[in-house]
Amino acid sequence: MKFRTAAIAAGAALAVPAVAANAAELNMICSAEVAICEKLVGAFEASHSDISVNMVRLSSGEAYAKVRAEGRNPQTDLWWGGTGDPQLQAAAEGLTAEYKSEHLAELHDWAVEQAETSGYRTVGVYSGALGWGYNTDIFTKKGLKEPTCWSDLLDPALKGEIQIADPNSSGTAYTALATLVQLMGEDEAMDYLKKLGSNVAQYTKSGSAPVKAAARGEAGLGIVFMHDAIGQTVEGFPIKVVAPCEGTGYEVGSMSIIEGAQNPDEAKVFYDWALTTDAQNLMPEAGSYQVQSNKAAVASEHTPDFSKLKLIDYDFAKYGSAETRKALLARWDAEVGGRAAE
Ligand code: G6P
Repeated sequence: MKFRTAAIAAGAALAVPAVAANAAELNMICSAEVAICEKLVGAFEASHSDISVNMVRLSSGEAYAKVRAEGRNPQTDLWWGGTGDPQLQAAAEGLTAEYKSEHLAELHDWAVEQAETSGYRTVGVYSGALGWGYNTDIFTKKGLKEPTCWSDLLDPALKGEIQIADPNSSGTAYTALATLVQLMGEDEAMDYLKKLGSNVAQYTKSGSAPVKAAARGEAGLGIVFMHDAIGQTVEGFPIKVVAPCEGTGYEVGSMSIIEGAQNPDEAKVFYDWALTTDAQNLMPEAGSYQVQSNKAAVASEHTPDFSKLKLIDYDFAKYGSAETRKALLARWDAEVGGRAAE
């Protein structure tokens, strides 16, 4: 594997090992955790020795921006993982290619619906529910009340304790924005997010960064996907995971082949493989506790039980449409963005 960090997008030069002679290439963006990105690439290369993968990790919104910027001269062949909304937007804009895998029939309905909504230009690879993780040591030490509801996060006692990502770069934070709009209505959600801003110490670029900061005591609480908070607990950090009492939204982590890709055949080989149980069973091994999209994949004991959560009926077609996503992000920028606690 040739692993390039997101720094390459910022123009940083770095040496890349030579490609094995005659190996075909696959240029891939991975928008989930680096550990699962690396695990998938390593296992794929081990079982497909004729294909060498160049992988870059970018948050979902950043990945969308890269694919869009490359336009008719794509440098990317395949986009694996990250929230589905930006992949649906890319699909609607013709930036991703239509493809029907032979493995579609093996997938859960929510993963197939993602394909149907996009005209088969994207597909679900996993699902995860939104929530937060808080540092129990910090909360106990400061005498803070356990926040079990979205409304609890507005408590002035939490000033400077909360981190959440920026929804422009992060699919996690966009899922939070769209979830609150669906729970409360748009004006109320914007008002809520403005108030929440008084308690937010930092808007991060990547979606899972807030709970990693909370785990290390750099923040009290991170609004993230529940499985990312669980990942920190499993690693031994003092993080308690919360499913918000009012209800919550979820992602359909997705995968797409880029329209006009330079290596479409290799992209299809990876795409088909990524939908198999062999590939999806690697997720728990890498500490990725989402629900996998293949019905026969084995979920981890740490994966949240969706039937016990109060999930909203998330409207992926609407919140993944270019019109709604652009409008909500513009409103977030104008009314909320950058209002971190002083
Ligand atoms: C983490 C989660 C994934 C999610 C991704 C989105 O990696 O484990 O389930 O799809 O975040 O990343 P982003 O940085 O775009 O919020």
